[in-house]
Amino acid sequence: MIGSVDSLPAAINTAPDSDLVRQLPHAFTGMHHNGVMRIGILTSGGDAPGLNAVIRGAVLTGSQTGSAEFVGFRQGWKGVVEADIVPLGRHEVKGISKQGGTIIGTSRTNPFEGAGGVDRVNEVMKDNGIDALMAIGGEGTLAAAKRLTDAGVRIVGVPKTVDNDLSATDYTFGFDTAVGIATEAMDRLRTTGDAHGRCMVAEVMGRHVGWIALHSGMASGAHVILIPEHKTSAAQIFDWVSSAYDRGRAPLVVVAEGFALDTMTDIHSERGLDAFGRPRLGGIGEMLAPMIEEATGIETRATTLGHIQRGGTPSAFDRVLATRLGMASLQSALDGKWGQMVALRGTDIVTVPFADALGTLKTVPENRYNEARVLFG
Ligand code: F6P
Repeated sequence: MIGSVDSLPAAINTAPDSDLVRQLPHAFTGMHHNGVMRIGILTSGGDAPGLNAVIRGAVLTGSQTGSAEFVGFRQGWKGVVEADIVPLGRHEVKGISKQGGTIIGTSRTNPFEGAGGVDRVNEVMKDNGIDALMAIGGEGTLAAAKRLTDAGVRIVGVPKTVDNDLSATDYTFGFDTAVGIATEAMDRLRTTGDAHGRCMVAEVMGRHVGWIALHSGMASGAHVILIPEHKTSAAQIFDWVSSAYDRGRAPLVVVAEGFALDTMTDIHSERGLDAFGRPRLGGIGEMLAPMIEEATGIETRATTLGHIQRGGTPSAFDRVLATRLGMASLQSALDGKWGQMVALRGTDIVTVPFADALGTLKTVPENRYNEARVLFG
């Protein structure tokens, strides 16, 4: 089963929290800033609520303990390649953990494209007296970070994605917030659906995995949840919708953007590829709605929640997780754990090599889907 704790790669536990802070002032003695490590932070890829809390956690810990100082690269790897650097001290991170987005901006820039590459990254770090990078990002970002680390660049990573699809961590920050937003939206869709006696189709994000769909669908009592891990026939969907309708309910169908019907050879993607060569998803909900209406005779509407799921205030869970990851990532840098990212295992923060975090997506296990499926229809 992919994504179970048992299947995860061996991890190295960081010190317990109390030890973490105690160790910080003594942990770093090298380089050229009187024992204070100078770290450049970047946030890269799609934003996720909690990015600012990671930044604040790392910056405040470095400043409280006198172990590290920070600068920010603007717009992800773009800022690294273009040496677009901003100060990042106590003042800049004041009160930001409750803010969505990222105060240093992000982009889907690949650091190996255009004027980028290992030599350019080394040059920018050297010119600006930067000892190490802290890369906060998802799969694409960490893959680029791994390539740079393999070439000798000092990088520690913090996993980020609302999709919750990174296999080396139990949860990524941003996921809990996205599920909360999607659930609230579905509660609203249900009241308007009830009022009109309509079938409502809600499409959520998640790329190639169905975590957001599964959790928001379960939370909102959806009558059908469709996820990429489980191809389903149109006839089965119509059955579930009709059965809910016949019981007097306004059917709610939650569909993940990466879902495909069993007759489809590929996922629904009409908007080309992103900078990392991955398909831009979206539109399966709009595709399914008229099919459902035609087959069942029930008036049906589709809503694509889209980027609303990534915007606004992070949940308390995400703020706490992100803050802890920021603090632990600083410890990783002070310990010289280059090429490793921090991760959540149970309630502990651990470190795992980039290589172990990449390659295998954390998909929804069959038993989790079957558990939800009992309530469909
Ligand atoms: O990976 C996070 C995510 O929000 C996916 O769920 C979605 O498919 C994608 O990013 C959207 O990307 P963009 O913000 O580039 O449109």
